[in-house]
Amino acid sequence: MSTPITNPLRIGLRQERVIPPQCLIIFGASGDLAHRKLIPALFELFKQRRLPSEFAILGCARRAWSDEDFRSKMTDALGNVSKESPEAWEKFCSGLFYESVDLQEQEGINNLKNRLDAIDRLKATHNNRTFYLSVSPNFYGITCRALADSGLLNDPKRSRLVIEKPFGRDYSSAQSLNKLVLNCCQESQVFRIDHYLGKETVQNILVLRFANTIFEPIWNRNYISSVQITASETVGVEERAGYYETSGALRDMVQNHLTQMLAITSMEPPGHFDPEAIRNEKAKVLQAARLANENIPSECCIRGQYNKGGTSDDPVLGYREEPGVNPKSTTETYVAMKLFIDNWRWQGVPFYIRTGKRLAKRLSEVVLTFREAPVHLFDAAGGSPTSNQLVLRIQPNEGAEFRFEVKSPGSGMRSRPVEMEFSYDESFGEPSDEGYVRLLADAMLGDPTLFTRNDEVEAAWRLYTPVLEIIEDNPALLPIYQYEARTWGPAAADALIGKDNLLWRRP
Ligand code: BG6
Repeated sequence: MSTPITNPLRIGLRQERVIPPQCLIIFGASGDLAHRKLIPALFELFKQRRLPSEFAILGCARRAWSDEDFRSKMTDALGNVSKESPEAWEKFCSGLFYESVDLQEQEGINNLKNRLDAIDRLKATHNNRTFYLSVSPNFYGITCRALADSGLLNDPKRSRLVIEKPFGRDYSSAQSLNKLVLNCCQESQVFRIDHYLGKETVQNILVLRFANTIFEPIWNRNYISSVQITASETVGVEERAGYYETSGALRDMVQNHLTQMLAITSMEPPGHFDPEAIRNEKAKVLQAARLANENIPSECCIRGQYNKGGTSDDPVLGYREEPGVNPKSTTETYVAMKLFIDNWRWQGVPFYIRTGKRLAKRLSEVVLTFREAPVHLFDAAGGSPTSNQLVLRIQPNEGAEFRFEVKSPGSGMRSRPVEMEFSYDESFGEPSDEGYVRLLADAMLGDPTLFTRNDEVEAAWRLYTPVLEIIEDNPALLPIYQYEARTWGPAAADALIGKDNLLWRRP
């Protein structure tokens, strides 16, 4: 009897689990994501001996490549990664296959089916198939339909779909896409990927909150006065202008990565550690979230775009001068927003989120600021005591720090802030896996915990609908503020948070 892929509900997150025999099919195998993230992540799993021997990767795209072409393109694209472990790479490479496929042609679908059957026989992959859609979002629907019509999604235990972001462009397109996908297969077969959920430090927020007793009792409006969630990048648009021009920071980062960090930080404890219990809580909190001022989005949302900057030795182009970008582009490369969550835990606590390209520093973090001490008994070094702050560092320097006041040495009774540190590097000494390593393994195991469910993705889009509508219908109401590259973004974003007498953290 062949081994079906089982659904490992209730299996702990960090236990090593055995990936069953299968073929991973990458649609869009000639694209950027495949060689930058997917193949390196799969190679990492291979080196960690986590892939079964009955395993194959079938790259699919329109280009007329042979298996050999695909292998040599991946070898070149991976550069040092493949050179560092030549024997392992050679072995891994022998499990790479390629099929030129046009899913809009019946002949293409027939060829794909024949090829999969042949791989099944060759590698004993037992008809278990994970289809990874790393194609342009315009092709998500067509690809699902073609796979379903050809019967390739018929067996929910043996076939599943991994769908990249962005899942839809707004609330209604996400709803339509969900409908279409769920007409082709069951929700349990769908893995909507957000690579932030694959980051060790994002998962650690769950452990920190729900494996300790000291945090949960104070993780609420009675003790926390505000929350900041940041994902700032130093890179610009790179070679992705074609995609980015139609997306912008709101669709590229906010609706997915920042919203997932928001959900994990603010959700209620699940009753069990199982995928549905966790996703229920995430969906529930996102349904309770709203823009701070839904009627006047400009009061709670700032959009920016980088212009040129850097130094005379190392100048950087402005966004509108980047190759492939419209010189009059109004695409935002920066977003700052203020949100509220209308529930018992968070009522009235502002959540500020910000993300941008070409900012001063690369960093992703969640910062919880606690309420001030009710009475100031001591003189403080800076005039007034700082509020306690818990900083969860997602990257770089993965870890956490807690800021609190202590007595300054000396004869007086002055207080000053100090930090207590936890660093992943120092405590565990080994680098964490890239998000894709974890998520690819989970998808192939059939564990959906770290993937976004249909109601979550819709709730995330719905949250930003007032802003998206204004950008669509009346963009003048949400102007694009220019900011100098390599700075912390537009002054208007400082004003947004400044209205509440707060500052963005700039570590
Ligand atoms: C991707 C976005 O999802 O995340 C990119 O499309 C962005 O624009 C990237 O650069 C950031 O990911 P990370 O892991 O480097 O923070």
